[in-house]
Amino acid sequence: MKIEKANIKDALEIANIEKICFPPLEAASFESIKERITVFKNHFFVLKDNDIIIGFINGMVTDSENLSDDMYEDANLHNENGLWQMVFGIDIIPKYQGKGYAGMLIRHFINVAKNENRNGIVLTCKENLVPFYEHFGFCNEGISQSEHGGVRWYQMRLVFDKK
Ligand SMILES: CC(C)(COP(=O)(O)OP(=O)(O)OC[C@H]1O[C@@H](n2cnc3c(N)ncnc32)[C@H](O)[C@@H]1OP(=O)(O)O)[C@@H](O)C(=O)NCCC(=O)NCCS
Repeated sequence: MKIEKANIKDALEIANIEKICFPPLEAASFESIKERITVFKNHFFVLKDNDIIIGFINGMVTDSENLSDDMYEDANLHNENGLWQMVFGIDIIPKYQGKGYAGMLIRHFINVAKNENRNGIVLTCKENLVPFYEHFGFCNEGISQSEHGGVRWYQMRLVFDKK
């Protein structure tokens, strides 16, 4: 297993995983994934089993404190010098779930954002995954302003200690 930055050539494989993991209204499209890799490839990581992508994590960096739906739609809102690392998606192919692979990706994402001296990480998730992210130190900030895919999202934040 190895974690690498996503390559534009990975976009189709990633879009296919996204389709398996999310309902159509919530899944990021192939076009959107291509755009994200192009604009913020330093913040888009894939987990590979030999040469097969089995999961990924991605999100833009921004000065905005909260994750808003317009960010999902427009990768160009990314600001490489921003304060907050967002998480737009973390997916693991179902047959690889429950083996700690999402944990590997989240810890990697946390380490990268810490080394880049960000304030912390922000994401939104459905209610059932709140305990999952709390496990990695995220705090639940309650119902988010997001209406992505027409469902209710909770905003979670991990703030880094800065010495
Ligand atoms: C959510 C998802 C990424 C988890 O991936 P995974 O590889 O199965 O998770 P892991 O095996 O790394 O689990 C990490 C830890 O969280 C715990 N955990 C996993 N799912 C959990 C849940 N639903 N609630 C609480 N804890 C959970 C595990 O027990 C594990 O604990 P450990 O580190 O002590 O062993 C995966 O199920 C997935 O891709 N789902 C579809 C897409 C999705 O919903 N993504 C999240 C978008 S917000």
